[in-house]
Amino acid sequence: MLQISTKPPKRAVLVIFNKINLNILPFFDIEEKNAIQQRLNDGIQIIPYSKQQKTYFLFPLEIDLTAKPDNIHEKLRVQGNTIYKMCKEYKEPEISLEVLGDFGKEYIASILSGINLSDYEFLKYRTKPKGYSLTVHVDPLLVDEAVINELNLMAESVRITKDLVNEPVSFLTATQYSKEIQKIGEAAGFSVTVMDQKEIEAEQMGGVIAVNLGSSAPATFNILEYKPKKHKNEQPLVLVGKGVVFDTGGLSLKPTRNSMDMMKSDMAGSAAVVGAMYAIAKANLPYHIIGLIPAVENRPGYEAICPSDVITMYDGTTVEVLDTDAEGRLILADALHYAKRYKPELVLDFATLTGSAMRAIGKEASVMMGTADKAIKKKLRKAGGSTGERMVEFPLWDEYGDYMKSEIADLKNLGPMDAGAITAGKFLEHFTDYPWIHFDIAGPAYIPSNYNYRGKWATAYGVRLLFKFVQNQCKDDNTQPEKKSRNNAR
Ligand code: BES
Ligand code: ZN
Ligand code: ZN
Repeated sequence: MLQISTKPPKRAVLVIFNKINLNILPFFDIEEKNAIQQRLNDGIQIIPYSKQQKTYFLFPLEIDLTAKPDNIHEKLRVQGNTIYKMCKEYKEPEISLEVLGDFGKEYIASILSGINLSDYEFLKYRTKPKGYSLTVHVDPLLVDEAVINELNLMAESVRITKDLVNEPVSFLTATQYSKEIQKIGEAAGFSVTVMDQKEIEAEQMGGVIAVNLGSSAPATFNILEYKPKKHKNEQPLVLVGKGVVFDTGGLSLKPTRNSMDMMKSDMAGSAAVVGAMYAIAKANLPYHIIGLIPAVENRPGYEAICPSDVITMYDGTTVEVLDTDAEGRLILADALHYAKRYKPELVLDFATLTGSAMRAIGKEASVMMGTADKAIKKKLRKAGGSTGERMVEFPLWDEYGDYMKSEIADLKNLGPMDAGAITAGKFLEHFTDYPWIHFDIAGPAYIPSNYNYRGKWATAYGVRLLFKFVQNQCKDDNTQPEKKSRNNAR
């Protein structure tokens, strides 16, 4: 946590300094400075130094101003993680920040962001947890109070999403997930309406129903709404998230090792929507947002849907289900159809949808595609770049749509071996009639080993990206320039 302190405690101090000029370090004599210089020459990133019952973590900051700003800030966040790990090694519960030298406040903020985002552990199931948490005391003269508050809100929202994703299905059934979303909505100030299995059946959400048939637990369909009194957008922004609380593959069972063992994270897309809405509502951003989360469990069972079954989707489209492991698109399609009633200005969906996206881009970015215009895509890329939650655009050419045509029904849920991320996107596109972007986050959402400030397991990819995007939308001057009157043109 970042703590605003005008008179911070000085037992442990993080000193950010310009290594060109060691004389700037007032706490050390010449001999000590020589020792520090020696370690700098050795290329040590952070130098711990104990003196008079105080611990200094000396961090020589070098900013390569020729690099792209987004890359500079990402590097600083990663360095923040290195600082965090050092504090953890020294078991320091709190440090205060000192900045010696002339650095832009925004750089210091990114280092703090990296430290703060690193401060996460999932300990719920440890009976003897050895927890560690770090408080950084920051003088508001170094970083503005509003920035510190936002960094804390980001870390908190990321934690909320990570907790949801890291929960196994033994706890987080669809029903429990809805309860958690309701609690989070109450805390943040957005409403949550939960449709239960009966209501889903009455609505004839064929995709949601079909995927959950093998499960002994009921499905839910969650409608989140954040509507502040004053909002900048006339029509709502709709966020759709894949909420498969566990994906075994269904009857098209996944091989267990390496393939099924991460599948509690198959609701990461929807958890990102929940975390982002938490942040946006807590920050009181003037933007009207709807969140739609179909929550199901994909399991084999007596009633489970069989490969070759034909189902009728919520919008009436018939789908030949050739592979029950391609389930995400079935539940998302129903949610995308549901979104039409809002006449949305834009719909963004987040889903751990295909192994194909993961193979294409790995953990470094999501795969994005959609029908929204270039300006929206540019804004999303801007938000992605500045938060380190990057995306790469794939095409939605008509030809790919042909791959999803079925001989027995309108569509099939399985395309050929190649271009799997795109054919999944093409399937989804069928159910949209508004500007729409799909994010396949299978690569970056969940990482089995430690990955800098993102940590291990759930990364909460999408939370900071969505918050930044909406924040920028609120700042943007969205008013259209007045159209030239035809009379003048005459
Ligand atoms: N949930 C998986 C996709 C996934 C794979 C997410 C790896 C995260 C990591 C999805 O439901 C799935 O099984 N997709 C299949 C689709 C295929 C059968 C067309 C896939 O990608 O193999
Ligand atoms: Zn699947
Ligand atoms: Zn899945």
